[in-house]
Amino acid sequence: MRLYKLAGAAAVAGAATFGYASVIERNWFALRRFEVPVLPPAAEPIRVLHYSDIHLTPGRHRLMSFLRTLDALEPDLVVCTGDSIAHKEAIPPLLDSLGPLLDRPGVFVFGSNDLYSPQPKSPSRYFRRLGPHERRRHHPDLPWAELGASYEAAGWLNANNQRGRMKVGNLDLEIGGVHDAHIRRDRYERIAGSTDPTADLRIGVMHSPEPAVMDRFVADGYDLLFAGHTHGGQVCLPVFGTIVTNCGLDNRRAKGLSHHPDRPAAGPRAFLHVSAGLGTSPYAPVRFCCRPEVSLLTLVPRIG
Ligand SMILES: [Fe+2]
Repeated sequence: MRLYKLAGAAAVAGAATFGYASVIERNWFALRRFEVPVLPPAAEPIRVLHYSDIHLTPGRHRLMSFLRTLDALEPDLVVCTGDSIAHKEAIPPLLDSLGPLLDRPGVFVFGSNDLYSPQPKSPSRYFRRLGPHERRRHHPDLPWAELGASYEAAGWLNANNQRGRMKVGNLDLEIGGVHDAHIRRDRYERIAGSTDPTADLRIGVMHSPEPAVMDRFVADGYDLLFAGHTHGGQVCLPVFGTIVTNCGLDNRRAKGLSHHPDRPAAGPRAFLHVSAGLGTSPYAPVRFCCRPEVSLLTLVPRIG
């Protein structure tokens, strides 16, 4: 009898936790703010809004409502690090929700989920890489090209294996980016080469923060790197935090502001900002101890 009571209590606690993670925390959107001392001395600060991993499906009205609030932050630059959609019909509601944000300077890269529609997966798949007999998908079935064309029509820089230059405020920004390393579409060799030391700031953009790719950005002189993909771990443990990043990045840097390389080194280091993202796969509609988020980074002059 006592065993039945324990099993019943565990079932109730499990159902309550799932309900909280899927209904409450998944829609409990956070705005995180950071100050990054990365500009030349005496430069005017600029605000950068970083969003990632929206994974939008047409029914996510609370998420769309949150997106509509972001233009009020008046960012000088918007950075999108991919996985914006998760449905063939998601582009019109995405663009409608971004609204006037699209009139601001922006830069974007794709993530794998902009190309491939979501599929049910074993939860264990998140903790390991594809085995030799597991099929990797090769034929995109989501309208990624239409998504990219929409961003570009708004004037945003397409940084998928490309470099560009952008004026933001009074600053001359050099920007380089790669397509998603998680599906091996990154072609760093196409953007390789030293950055321009006369630019006011050098920004690197990617979806998946693979350390080997970030090493190359740092070696070429990029000052500030943006990435998404990790979802911050998505389902985390109280106190312990992130369990898995789904890439080569360590758990400690799964979200927020850090550096790459992680530890002080003899060579150069860049600031790294990883977004825990706003969404989830429709087949894993939970977040626990890892609220969905966007970040507003205020870039200010370097210290010293
Ligand atoms: Fe994602």
